[in-house]
Amino acid sequence: MSKSLNIGLVGYGFMGRTHSNGYKRANDFFDLEYRPVLKAVCGRNADNAKAFADKWQYESFETDWKKLVERDDIDAIDICTPNNTHAEIAIAAAKAGKMVLCEKPLSMNTAEGEEMVKVAEEAGVKTTVWYNYRRVPAVTLAKQLIDEGRLGKIFHYRANFLQDWTINADLPQGGAALWRLDAAAAGSGVTGDLLAHCIDTAIWLNGGIKDVNAMTETFIKERQHNLTGKVEKVSIDDACAFLCHFSNGSLGLFESTRYARGHKALYTFEINGEHASIKWDLHDLHRLEYFDHRDDSLIRGWHDVHVTDGDMPYMGNWWVPGLQIGYEHTFVHQVADFLKDLETGAVTQPDFRTALETQKVCDAVLNSAANRQWTEVG
Ligand SMILES: NC(=O)c1ccc[n+]([C@@H]2O[C@H](COP(=O)([O-])OP(=O)(O)OC[C@H]3O[C@@H](n4cnc5c(N)ncnc54)[C@H](O)[C@@H]3O)[C@@H](O)[C@H]2O)c1
Repeated sequence: MSKSLNIGLVGYGFMGRTHSNGYKRANDFFDLEYRPVLKAVCGRNADNAKAFADKWQYESFETDWKKLVERDDIDAIDICTPNNTHAEIAIAAAKAGKMVLCEKPLSMNTAEGEEMVKVAEEAGVKTTVWYNYRRVPAVTLAKQLIDEGRLGKIFHYRANFLQDWTINADLPQGGAALWRLDAAAAGSGVTGDLLAHCIDTAIWLNGGIKDVNAMTETFIKERQHNLTGKVEKVSIDDACAFLCHFSNGSLGLFESTRYARGHKALYTFEINGEHASIKWDLHDLHRLEYFDHRDDSLIRGWHDVHVTDGDMPYMGNWWVPGLQIGYEHTFVHQVADFLKDLETGAVTQPDFRTALETQKVCDAVLNSAANRQWTEVG
């Protein structure tokens, strides 16, 4: 007989769907003591919230997240709303004794994130932040290879996250779907939205970041605002590039933009160590490229590892070797890990405290760009 974990989901947009899918699928593919129950979804528009509840089989809906947080029949609050709402909802949920699963970035800035960590730790509630790329099997395999020491001493970490969807100057900012262009809702542009993913993965794979030197650019300076109807200043960073030093002595180079024509979501990283290098590309997410200098010179070259065998991370729970999985499975994995950790008492990574490290790097990046100088993290 499984134990129930009653979920209250806030926000029924893009992430509301990926998480709901994760809750519905996890127990079908992983052996878990806990089973998520889709108790309630919350959205401000009653018709939309009800339609989402019907479609995804939530038992009920709310139009005010405060009511959801107060409900006795909810164990965990899942925050899938724009960045400026994360702290308020997470803090209220933690104070009400609920577990909190929060979308990334943790918060609008470090100060807000610190408060979230403090309240959650004082309340003793379990937390996690959905930095889901850690749970792409090929990325998890990269972590395993690095931890086994196969790369040796790391010299370089390089990451890109490139998109092209905001090049049109007529695209408005603010409101549904376009809140990412509005600094009041998003906090920052590509730094908090895209580089936060790259930074979380980098810290996980290669350790802490000590200092950064960044530049940002806002290519389109003014856009019509959907909520006010007026043409307003654009305050997000459209593009950001930064250099950094990792604590292990390696050098980092990160770039993100929404102005790279031809790229929709090109998240790539490459790590160069003394013995070996690895490369990964979100557009080919089930493959890990691996080069090992210790190979026989006659066959030395980049290996294209198709991460589908049963002994590879997560893959034993899916189909048969050779058959791959995709983006949505990363959320299934995060749900499965969260439920397994609930069973064993382990911390699900990243928790709020770990995700705060990424927030500190994001803040240092934005400060460095504003001040045009090297900036210590934290
Ligand atoms: N992990 C990832 O890869 C990933 C990908 C995309 C987005 N995100 C993050 O997920 C969060 C949501 O992004 P999205 O793409 O799903 O956005 P979205 O615009 O698709 O959905 C946001 C939802 O929040 C709702 N909402 C806004 N304010 C609300 C409030 N006060 N109360 C209740 N509902 C409210 C909106 O109505 C909408 O349903 C953001 O923090 C974003 O950074 C993470």
